[in-house]
Amino acid sequence: MQLLLTAEKIDKNYQVLKALIKKLDRGPELTRLYDDMELDDRIQMAPASSVEYFHNAIPGGYVDHVLRVYKFALATYDFWEAQGLDMSGFDKKELEFAALHHDLGKLGLPGENTELYQFNDSEWHRKNQGKVYKINPNIPHMTMLDRTLFIFNHYGIKYTLNELLGIRLADGMYDPENEKYFNVFEPANKLRNNIGYIMHHADMMASRFEYERWLKYSTKKFSSTAIPKPSTSTTSPTDEFSKLFS
Ligand SMILES: [Fe+2]
Repeated sequence: MQLLLTAEKIDKNYQVLKALIKKLDRGPELTRLYDDMELDDRIQMAPASSVEYFHNAIPGGYVDHVLRVYKFALATYDFWEAQGLDMSGFDKKELEFAALHHDLGKLGLPGENTELYQFNDSEWHRKNQGKVYKINPNIPHMTMLDRTLFIFNHYGIKYTLNELLGIRLADGMYDPENEKYFNVFEPANKLRNNIGYIMHHADMMASRFEYERWLKYSTKKFSSTAIPKPSTSTTSPTDEFSKLFS
């Protein structure tokens, strides 16, 4: 069995995303961006990653992921606030903007035939390595953040400092550049508010959710990767662990 979203779900997700975008401050400019980049169904059909066991490497995976990060970001905000953490220094609207655009660069660049991910025509790589998509050779190598900022620039969309940091820090220290923000101890250098932490928690939680969902569906074994499946056995974890070495 394979994890796939239905056509109805893909369409509904996209309508929900567009409705959320419209409600943001820069609604008209953002709607122009989405309408322009959607010409080839790019946004609706984009995956969130290229390899099966990363997360949401399926048609419609991008929007599905973005909506999940949006939901988790707002829930994380409420949770942190309820625990008494300081929620000043940024606006909830900025968090919404960052959540909805944190992976924008995964759509590629403006223009035709400039999507980032293309279906991998090599059946061997799809079957044996889970590489469902490949990177479009038409576009230059860039970081995802640079592509995101270029897209904003191309469509004349301004962003606030908090929105920029929220988008930049979503990957946490999975992006080594972010160490410069997270791995600091001087009070003067620490993040001035919590938008970056909340974005990272939300993105990590959504990616993990999507990975676990894939695990439930996948029946594949990859030659180069041992993928543990959720255990249904009644043996204790210690027994499972010792089996690895027997
Ligand atoms: Fe993400």
